[in-house]
Formats: sequence, structure tokens, C-alpha cells
Amino acid sequence: MYKIEPLIYIGQNILEQCLPYVQGRQVCVVTQKEIPDLMLQKLKNLFSSKTLNIVYIPEGETAKSWATVEYLMDQFVAAKFNRECTVVALGGGVVGDVAGFAASIYLRGVNFIQMPTTLLAQVDASVGGKTAINHAQGKNLIGTFYQATSVIIDIDSLQTLAQRDYIAGLAEVVKIACVRDADFFAWLEQHVETILVRESGTVMQMIHQAVKLKAQIVKADEKEQGERMLLNFGHTVAHAIETASAYDCLHGEAVAMGMVQALALSQEHGLSVQAVQRIIALLQGFGLPTQLPENGWQKHMAHDKKHRDSGLNRVLLAGLGQGMIHLEALASEE
Ligand code: GLY
Repeated sequence: MYKIEPLIYIGQNILEQCLPYVQGRQVCVVTQKEIPDLMLQKLKNLFSSKTLNIVYIPEGETAKSWATVEYLMDQFVAAKFNRECTVVALGGGVVGDVAGFAASIYLRGVNFIQMPTTLLAQVDASVGGKTAINHAQGKNLIGTFYQATSVIIDIDSLQTLAQRDYIAGLAEVVKIACVRDADFFAWLEQHVETILVRESGTVMQMIHQAVKLKAQIVKADEKEQGERMLLNFGHTVAHAIETASAYDCLHGEAVAMGMVQALALSQEHGLSVQAVQRIIALLQGFGLPTQLPENGWQKHMAHDKKHRDSGLNRVLLAGLGQGMIHLEALASEE
């Protein structure tokens, strides 16, 4: 098992690592019907001495809505959850984002634990304290920064994950390597086969490195005033693609395409052709899409969170492993 101090655990069959972080008597597991029964059963056993509520939310990105938040509030109030209760998010990024948001506003904030079950949530969404729901005009426009007291990454959950979802998660791994760690990027290039067949030792090593890099960035800039913006590499266009596709396109797939778009801009600012080719080859090696869709995504750029008064902060690459922030004037977006 890997442990990233003080709160992130990565391993196999490790759900019980959450127990020291559950102080009160009331526990609410927020999850979805599609989550493997076995994991839920393990939690039922772990929390057998607690008052346990299991609340199911709908599947898909559209569940990140005010309606789901209201539903969760109704459930929390009906169960008389007090300030010592613990909300556990068992699921992918959708569950983590919306349950985290609910935990952050219920009674002005209650204990929150992340148990991500998809690769994308394990390497990115569950780490760093971003919670969110969507607005009709854009993804993640409403949310809070609210840190989980622990993040339990049990890679056994990946066994039943659909290959399309698993591959989508790899986009966030490529992203962090691109902006932060050229050696990790080279390691990924050398392990494409074993990663794709989910060889557990390789997968654990990959998740550990991705999470370690992300945790370092979040520690330095929790509220995204500077360095954390690097984690948005490919995301400005990705969010627009997802919104335009009515969330038919998976987040990771959109991130892959968004990174390709950002590479073109990075090349204009001096990124080498060789680096661009390596990144595109790795994305394709993992089976991720690299052609931008023609779904009118451009018009959704206007609502991106990365807008500032002076323009839009875009993340580009100065080199492999070297992300940089570039302020793009708003006029050039139209
Ligand atoms: N997913 C990007 C971040 O957590 O900052």
C-alpha cells in the first residue's frame, strides 16, 4: 500500500483505512446503482456499529445538479444527521463532486471521505478538494473548495470498470505528466501495454505518481491562484466539448482532445514538434481521441471558470513536463 501524508491511501482491499477518520455515529454513503455490490457490502460490514444510510444518486454528469443537492439535503435532514456525521462518496467523479458539495454546505460543512472507484476520480477528481455541480451554461460552474479528511483509493474497484471509462481516466494521468514530470511521461510510454491490461502493480505505481504530483500542486496552491491552474491543461476546451456534447463525451476523452488543441497553441509559443508528436502518440497508444469534434464547442468557451477580467488563463506547455500559464485576450476567443 502507498500512503501520501496525511490522508491519501492507495492499495488493494484497503477500505478499512477510512475508519480512523469516522468519529461520529452517523454515516451516509452516497453512491450510484452501478457501483459494484461487493464494495458496498464491505462498507456495510465496516460500519456495522454505526447508523448507516445509503443514498443513491442518478448516473451520469447530469446528476451534478441542484436537484441532486436538494435530494441529498432532504435525505440528510430526514435522517437527522448532526454535525458529527460523515458523508462518504463511493463512486466516480460525479459522486465525489456532488456529495462533496453537499457535505460542504450541510450544517455549514460536515466530515467528508472520498472513496473513488473510477480511474479518473482516483488520479484527479477525488484529490484536492474541488466540489461542483454544473450549470446549463457550463460544467462545474457552482461549487466549493472543501477537503476530504481522507481519500481511500482501492484499486480493486477498477476490476469491473468498463474499458472506455478506464481509458478516459488515463487522459488525466497523461495530463499531469505533461505539465509536471517528463520522467513520468517517459515511464508511461514504456508501460502502455501493462497499463492497458491493468496489471495491478503498474496501475498502483501509476496512480501513486499521478496523485503524488497532484497533491504537491494542491498543497502549494489549494485555491487555484497560480500553480494549480496547471492542472487545467486541456480543460478549457474539454469543458466546452463536454457541454456541447450534452455530456455524451466522457470527461477524459474531452481532456485528451482539449490537450491536443492546447498543443497547437503551445507549438506557436515554442513547444517542439517532437514533444507534440510524443504526446499525441501516447494519447493514441492509450486509445484516446485526438481529433477535435465539430459540435459547436467554441461557443461554450465564454462561460469557462478560468476567465478573469483581463482574459482567459490558458495552460500551455513550454516543454514536456513543463506547464505554463498564458493569458489569452478575450477578443481572440470570439
Ligand atoms: N481537476 C483539476 C484540479 O483539481 O485542480
